[in-house]
Amino acid sequence: MAVPLGGRGAPHRPVLLRETIELLAAERGGLFVDCTVGLGGHSEAILQASSDTQVLALDRDDEALELARKRLALYGLRFRAEHADFRELTRVLAKAKIKQARGILADLGVSSWQLDSPSRGFSFRHEAPLDMRMDRSSGETAAALLGRLSEVEIARIIFVYGEERHSRRIARAIVRRRERGEPVTNTSQLASLVERTTGPGKQRRIHPATRTFQALRIAVNRELENLDRFVTDAVDHLEPDGRLVVISFHSLEDRIVKRTLGKLSGRCQCPPRVPRCTCGARKAVEVLTRRPITPSEEEIAVNPRARSSKLRACRKL
Ligand SMILES: C[S@@+](CC[C@H](N)C(=O)[O-])C[C@H]1O[C@@H](n2cnc3c(N)ncnc32)[C@H](O)[C@@H]1O
Repeated sequence: MAVPLGGRGAPHRPVLLRETIELLAAERGGLFVDCTVGLGGHSEAILQASSDTQVLALDRDDEALELARKRLALYGLRFRAEHADFRELTRVLAKAKIKQARGILADLGVSSWQLDSPSRGFSFRHEAPLDMRMDRSSGETAAALLGRLSEVEIARIIFVYGEERHSRRIARAIVRRRERGEPVTNTSQLASLVERTTGPGKQRRIHPATRTFQALRIAVNRELENLDRFVTDAVDHLEPDGRLVVISFHSLEDRIVKRTLGKLSGRCQCPPRVPRCTCGARKAVEVLTRRPITPSEEEIAVNPRARSSKLRACRKL
């Protein structure tokens, strides 16, 4: 199910679509919450799985939400969308007077539509102010972050979230520019700074600035913050036999999802030899994916962005 992007970039293809719909068991009908609706690819497939399904969709990106609303208008009252951060799930459901959902989906990270939006500053492929906020109504831009943080803090972000081995050199170059009164404020300045700092390297599979851009995006949008809390809240809002599916694109995200689902399936996550469990493990779910589901070679061939995706799912007991 590819959706054209109005002439911009590659068509948008929902990642691991068939697997998601199967694990959500959307053919049973009922209320589903799509916490990251994006352009609505997964939501549309949920709506098509049964004439009895309804979707409450969230996204923190107003522009994406508007496109999803237009695209899914034909489903009438079966689809409604709300501008919200999924970490506010409990508040959103209370406001909508929803106690329990049959299925909850979170397809984390940015969409290819956002990456390809020339003015958003997510990509080194487009000259734009270094913004990178998914929600442009609040928070600090990437440029502001680079203008405020210390060299050590910038290096840490690039190393931890980007797994970039040249993180210290890149952070030093960013701070030197700032000290000369030439702060990094747009995408091409950052991309060429990283390219100059890291050198030509051996035949690279990816652009040298890829990891730095990814790291900054994760920091700007605080993507890992309270992800464990969200997974726990989502499970608490499922009806018995309800399903939660989480698709992640970063090893740190996947680790948090794995640990949290482990804990919610009753497996203690405390360090070995602690006298008493303090991690809060309880048996609330059955994990449906012993190992994460990853995309097939065929899917990666038509949608290279799917490459790093990992899907984990559980069933509420
Ligand atoms: C990978 S895309 C989802 C694509 C979608 N499944 C589809 O088929 O079109 C991720 C979406 O999640 C949104 N998002 C990321 N973090 C969010 C958060 N904490 N709360 C709400 N939306 C978020 C992004 O703005 C983006 O539109």
